[in-house]
Amino acid sequence: MASVPFSVSAIRELFPALRQKVYGKQLIYFDNGATSQKPQVVLDTLQQYYALENANIHRGVHYLSQQATSAYEAARRTIQQYIGAKAPEEIIFTKGTTDGINLVAYSFGERLKPGDEILISAMEHHSNIVPWQLLCERKGCTLRVIPISKKGELDLQAFEELLSERTKLLAITHISNTLGTINPVKELIEKAHKVGAKVLLDGAQSIQHLQIDVKDLNCDFYTFSGHKVFGPTGIGILYGKEELLDSMPPYQGGGDMIAKVTFERTTYNTLPLKFEAGTPHIAGAIGLGSAISFLQSIDMQAAAAHELELTKYAQGILDTFEGLHIIGEAKNKTSVVSFTVDHMHPFDIGTLLDKQGIAVRTGHHCTQPLMDFYQIPGTVRASFAFYNTKEEIDIFVAALERSMQILGA
Ligand code: ALA
Repeated sequence: MASVPFSVSAIRELFPALRQKVYGKQLIYFDNGATSQKPQVVLDTLQQYYALENANIHRGVHYLSQQATSAYEAARRTIQQYIGAKAPEEIIFTKGTTDGINLVAYSFGERLKPGDEILISAMEHHSNIVPWQLLCERKGCTLRVIPISKKGELDLQAFEELLSERTKLLAITHISNTLGTINPVKELIEKAHKVGAKVLLDGAQSIQHLQIDVKDLNCDFYTFSGHKVFGPTGIGILYGKEELLDSMPPYQGGGDMIAKVTFERTTYNTLPLKFEAGTPHIAGAIGLGSAISFLQSIDMQAAAAHELELTKYAQGILDTFEGLHIIGEAKNKTSVVSFTVDHMHPFDIGTLLDKQGIAVRTGHHCTQPLMDFYQIPGTVRASFAFYNTKEEIDIFVAALERSMQILGA
């Protein structure tokens, strides 16, 4: 699929944000778990759309509207092909991962009954916890949680024990945003299907690191955010198997999701528009299509190998620091190195790193139950993308040493 061999320096050239200095220092951007930087091609696509192609979609007979509609639908097809979905009808444009999960919780959740169970894991982001709690309150269902080990790996035996014919949905992260753990999702999906449960994968942290094939994974839903995969904010994707989406009621009502409206009764549009009420984020969808086309030009296997090397390199060095504890040491992990340092608050470390031009995230990373499990208030998290380098890690390590000296003094 890749048209050019993987070259970090060539890729970096395509990202204007990476060229800048902050506080007079070359920016080192290690907050890719929170959001990724955008390649020039995505910026150009957005500029071109707003400058020359802006019109509402699916509504106008005029030229611009037809242009915008075909660009929007072409983006859907690009994404469909990239993740291996069977048909464009299986690709719903959403606001992001959170919106995708809420859509499933609300719409798929309508069929759940008191006593039904939803299974999540102890390493979920709040967006894959709270929608299910709301659903459980609404429907009288029970939320069950797969425990993890201190290394940050799922307890697979406990998973099997928790699975039963009461389990209607397994909703689980593909890669943990806090620990970097890559969960064995194929195995989980197979086992969940055996008891008749559907499976939703939170792909917010996997789409940018792994080549995703939803048919091969055989997940029922897969959801991700555009901004974490080098595209715009405010746009995301919910993939769902067509027959499943077809059987689900609409999430929101409004324009474009209807077939016929009368005051007595409304019938709904077919997929995917049934789930896209109102004027969508047209520019965002087209921009996301452009980001995905950009990924298609990259050797994702080589990119993943590079990210893994960065992760191991950073973790290997940090492991030797006295008083520093890596949080998340799963055998199968990537792109995230979270850590705490004895007697130092993550926020203070993050602030000192920032002043040295290094962007990391500090805090609970929207995984408070996971912080409770480790009995820590938060971590410092360095999260990598394929445009990061070992040289950047060396500078980060030196800056961290300086920060620890200042804070320890
Ligand atoms: N979920 C994003 C993160 O992990 C915001 O930082």
